[in-house]
Amino acid sequence: MNPRLGRLQPYPFEQLRALLAGVTPPASLRPINLSIGEPKHPTPALVTDALAGALDGLSAYPATAGTPALREAIAEWLGRRYGIPAPDAATQVLPVNGSREALFSFAQAAIDPSRGEARVACPNPFYQIYEGAALLAGAQPVYLNDGAPLESLDWRGVQLAYVCSPGNPTGRVLGPDDWRRLFELSDRHGFVIASDECYSELYYDELRPPLGALQAARQLGRGGYERIVAFSSLSKRSNAPGLRSGFAAGDAALLRAFLLYRTYHGSAMSLPSQQASIAAWRDEAHVRENRRLYAEKYRAVLPLIEPPLSTAMPDGGFYLWVRTPVDDAAFARELQRQYNVLVLPGSFLSREVAGRNPGQNRLRVALVAPLGRSNSNGFAGFTGVRVLLTMSSR
Ligand SMILES: Cc1ncc(COP(=O)(O)O)c(C=O)c1O
Repeated sequence: MNPRLGRLQPYPFEQLRALLAGVTPPASLRPINLSIGEPKHPTPALVTDALAGALDGLSAYPATAGTPALREAIAEWLGRRYGIPAPDAATQVLPVNGSREALFSFAQAAIDPSRGEARVACPNPFYQIYEGAALLAGAQPVYLNDGAPLESLDWRGVQLAYVCSPGNPTGRVLGPDDWRRLFELSDRHGFVIASDECYSELYYDELRPPLGALQAARQLGRGGYERIVAFSSLSKRSNAPGLRSGFAAGDAALLRAFLLYRTYHGSAMSLPSQQASIAAWRDEAHVRENRRLYAEKYRAVLPLIEPPLSTAMPDGGFYLWVRTPVDDAAFARELQRQYNVLVLPGSFLSREVAGRNPGQNRLRVALVAPLGRSNSNGFAGFTGVRVLLTMSSR
């Protein structure tokens, strides 16, 4: 087998299983899972109806490039959402089966192992796919700690840089100055930017949606999107993680090579999924409602845990990145043991760099569980989060 497989780290949820082995939560308490970033709001009927109405499409092999209609719907959405001219649907947009597989496979297509030791820059903490993609492409992941200046990384040999905005798990959004500096570094060192924007539609100031990579590029006069590919998804935006639908958009030359790779890899989206995706990208009402529901959860939960635990409303996404007064893994284990509440220790999502692990003493709390309707505080679904407060004051 490929020896690079041996370099993969255990996935955070495997680490969580190991951490909780032998832990028996009180049977009297309802289990509350705030560990997985899986949307729980229902998939909108306009998506499921479009899917059901297109089932005859199962009789045909879909093209890897997707249908022109889907590429057009995505290009138009990008134009509307980011206030940019719609990208060229034929060359600058490519449907993918969710952003996870695309973020992974993009590294396999983008890394050139003949150029000496290839390095892949990842944020830290980070979505684990970036690291696995780098390792399986034969590259060395290098990490930029949350909050550290971009320039503090040694960018020599970096061929690909993953960025995530809004960030998982921090919720941080990159601003215009971050993008300008990243583009300058990309010009100087020649690396490709893979911009993971799968949380781009979960923001809580309707007047200030997060800046996207393509939008930032246009604003800085980089209309050809040189060395930039943005990845987005319907999973969080449209509560459709099972649809497996997203897109890559940007630099036409990179997407041409990526399409070639994907043709061999065999990652075409089924025609019913494409029809459902078209319906989803064309509608914003359900996305606004989705944001409203998440905003409601933040409003309910933040006052319960903000003092004394340190956390804050993120710029975007659906996580809280909570500081713990004790070791994060121990805290998470106790939360499960005493209260039947599952959260993810921050250190499972990060690596130690220069003696510092930015996930240490942090928890990632996914605000996906539905708000309860009828307990004394009105937040039955968040009993466990409220418990964080009790623990920290011991
Ligand atoms: C940061 C980030 N990127 C990408 C993904 C992948 O999402 P999907 O493959 O459903 O588009 C996730 C999923 O949780 C994520 O957290």
